Amino acid sequence: MKDRKQLVVSAIKDGTVIDHIPAKVLFKVIDILGLDHIENQITFGTNLESKKLGNKGIIKLTGVFFKQEDLDRMALVAPDVKVNIIKDYEVVEKKVVEIPEKIQGIVKCVNPMCITNKEPVQTKFDLVTAQPVSIKCHYCEKITDASNMVILTSL
Ligand code: CTP
Ligand code: ZN
Repeated sequence: MKDRKQLVVSAIKDGTVIDHIPAKVLFKVIDILGLDHIENQITFGTNLESKKLGNKGIIKLTGVFFKQEDLDRMALVAPDVKVNIIKDYEVVEKKVVEIPEKIQGIVKCVNPMCITNKEPVQTKFDLVTAQPVSIKCHYCEKITDASNMVILTSL
C-alpha cells in the first residue's frame, strides 16, 4: 500500500533507490556513499512517515548502480536499508546490506591515542558483532561501537 508521503519523491527510470533509512542516519549514509561527489541526479527525502521506522529517509539515484561492497559499508549505520535496483521504472532487484568482516577507513577509532588519530594512517577494523555493531581496531585493539562511532567524511 502506498501512502501519500511516498509520492513526495517521484519515481525514477533507471538507477538505485535506497529505502528505509532511519532518518537520523540519512546524512551519514550520504557521507559513506560519497554522494557529494556524484554528478548524477540525486533526490532524497527525510522524515517521511514509515510504519516500521517512525521516520525514514530515502535516496534515489538516477543512473547509479553501486558495487555490493560499497553498499555494504552503509550497514555500519543503517543495517536494515533496502536497496532497490530500478530498470525501466520497474524494481528488478532488492538488495540487503551486511557489514563487511574488514572495514577500512569510513570509521574513526574511538581511542584518541591510536596511531590512526595521530598519524595519517587509514583506520582498519575487524567486525566483532553486527547488531549492535561493534568493531575492533587493527592497530590498538580498542572496540568502537554504535554509541561512540564517528563516521569520517569521505575525501
Ligand atoms: N521506486 C522508484 N522508482 C521506480 C520504482 C520504485 O523510486 N520506478 C521506489 C519506490 O518509491 C519505493 C522503492 O523504490 O520507495 C521500492 O519500490 P517498491 O518495491 O515498489 O515499493 P514497496 O513495495 O513499498 O517496497 P518495500 O516494502 O520493499 O520497501
Ligand atoms: Zn585504534
